[in-house]
Amino acid sequence: MKGVVLAGGLGTRLNPLTKITNKHLLPIYQKPMIFYPIEMLVQAGIKEVLIVTGGNNAGDFLRLIGNGKQFGLRHLEYTYQEGEGGIADALSLAEDFVDGHKFTVVLGDNLLEKGIRHGVEAFQNQPEGARIFLKEVDHPWEYGIATVEGKRITQIIEKPKDPASNLAVIGVYMYPADVFDFIKGLEPSARGELEITDVNNRYIAQGTMQYDLVDGWWMDAGENAEALLMANLTVARMEGVAI
Ligand code: G1P
Repeated sequence: MKGVVLAGGLGTRLNPLTKITNKHLLPIYQKPMIFYPIEMLVQAGIKEVLIVTGGNNAGDFLRLIGNGKQFGLRHLEYTYQEGEGGIADALSLAEDFVDGHKFTVVLGDNLLEKGIRHGVEAFQNQPEGARIFLKEVDHPWEYGIATVEGKRITQIIEKPKDPASNLAVIGVYMYPADVFDFIKGLEPSARGELEITDVNNRYIAQGTMQYDLVDGWWMDAGENAEALLMANLTVARMEGVAI
């Protein structure tokens, strides 16, 4: 399976840290943030990767990651998202790269304690549709929030004012190639973006969306300064640093 890492955007919630660099190049303990999602894909057996970046510092990704051999990647491509069109807009740039096959998308600031291998394996055996990961969170109004009935997701609402659950849709998504047809039909949301939640709701309406619950911690490290600090502390402690 192929993988896509989304690492665009201007990272304005982290200003001034992101004034002269891309959010996904900021440090998480001893490595740049984007190393973690790339390593997570490789651990799940995904060795052909496309990085979608954007903003003013796109060339730094090439300097940092090169051809990806240091991660054990077999093939690495880059592309560039113009403007701030949202996750689904960034994803639309991956159509030729995935070339009709199923693939996994990771937001470049998402870190998972135990990786995504089990979900990727389940998706490989899934006959149709898409697959996402859900995780219980303390601040559900900051995420896409799923309503679940047993093994079925009935709805996802993006940043609900009055959340129906505390199950957040994390930034790892698995799609078949028909996702690009759905993206072409999207309209921008109130925040002016093509929303990945609208894409996911199409699969829910079709009855072909499946999910896995995240085992261990999940962090959206680029959400804000507190999340970035927490990600640094958590990873450093995992590496045995006494802080
Ligand atoms: C995005 C998605 C949201 C998801 C979150 C996970 O939010 O829109 O559904 O829960 O990533 O990190 P954003 O970071 O664009 O606010």
